[in-house]
Amino acid sequence: MALVNENYLKLSGSYLFSEIARRVNQFKADNPEADIIRLGIGDVTRPLSPAVIEAMHKGVAEMGSAETFRGYGPEQGYPFLIEKIIENDFTPRGVELSVDEVFVSDGAKSDTANFQELFGADNIMAVTDPVYPVYVDSNVMAGRTGTFNIEKGQYGKIIYLPCTEQNGMKPSLPETRVDMIYLCFPNNPTGMTLSKEELKQWVDYARKNRSIILFDAAYEAFIREEGVPHSIFEIEGAREVAVEFRSFSKTAGFTGTRCAYTIVPKEVNVYDSKGEAHSLNQLWLRRQTTKFNGASYPVQAGAVAVFSEEGKQQIKETIDYYMENARIIREGLQEAGYTIFGGVNAPYVWMKTPNDMGSWEFFDKLMNDAYVVGTPGAGFGANGEGYFRLTAFGTRENTLKAIERIKRSSSK
Ligand code: MLT
Repeated sequence: MALVNENYLKLSGSYLFSEIARRVNQFKADNPEADIIRLGIGDVTRPLSPAVIEAMHKGVAEMGSAETFRGYGPEQGYPFLIEKIIENDFTPRGVELSVDEVFVSDGAKSDTANFQELFGADNIMAVTDPVYPVYVDSNVMAGRTGTFNIEKGQYGKIIYLPCTEQNGMKPSLPETRVDMIYLCFPNNPTGMTLSKEELKQWVDYARKNRSIILFDAAYEAFIREEGVPHSIFEIEGAREVAVEFRSFSKTAGFTGTRCAYTIVPKEVNVYDSKGEAHSLNQLWLRRQTTKFNGASYPVQAGAVAVFSEEGKQQIKETIDYYMENARIIREGLQEAGYTIFGGVNAPYVWMKTPNDMGSWEFFDKLMNDAYVVGTPGAGFGANGEGYFRLTAFGTRENTLKAIERIKRSSSK
């Protein structure tokens, strides 16, 4: 008799974005004429840039000729891409990395979900609340979280760090010792950021407690303001305690093509029960070489074009386009009287629901009254209840239309 991994039975409900898709599909089936605008999942709508497409075509052509064909690539990514990542994303910010500290992959979702495998089951983990659900669910699957308390909407063994209106959506340091800390800044879902000084407090905490910070920087390309760190490695001492996840998905339109990378400095250690140190870099390499065979060559060939002069220009235009959407959403909602957060250095706007309405109730109301789909804050954690997330990744036309419809529906 095959036994189930009972940790899977502890998962609460279905994956957030699958549940939203299910509800939207049901609504569409019941209302086939409804012109639905999706500002729910953070999926991009602008096509890959011409420089990337040209490089991908070339990559595909190389795969079709015996002289240039490539089979398995290096599991951790081709050096031609890793060198450009370091040269463009880190060196200009004063961050020195070596080639074997960068691991190219097929997505930050899989990397953030998989990385927890390197940690013991008894580690205490902390997450912000609200939080990107993948960090929590992947740890539930691994048996690190205890069971779900339906009343609280939280797992028993996770330390939740509330991000609320009172603290400006900035988590406070844990009051008790934690071993693994997930931080995402610019934040998904709140769209808020930490300053260098604020992030330094986390690095100092981790150094003092020998904890590891799992830092998700998937949205760094959307930072507009000075003083907001793009990488945790801009903070002194972070190389000893942090791992950073980056993605081409939102930055360069790779959500459907899949390419990302994770930085694991050689100084970051985890400890065995005897207190002996082990290199996280070596463990991740071991994990990836066993379980992953590298992102595909044409995709990595396309990703490297993101760093060409034309690529950089084209990608900047796309990011500007989305950030103009963010401005339209932010200002439109403010005009309609909503309290909002984010959208200045991130492609997400986090709004308070009107009259303390539950987030799923507001989700249904917007879908029914305005044919607009967003993401209910409660799907990101107990402290997301009473909030709602809209993404700036829609088309301009749909973004403008959605805001007009929300304004109309809220004046009813
Ligand atoms: C989101 O909407 O939060 C993101 O699209 C999810 C993801 O990147 O996996």
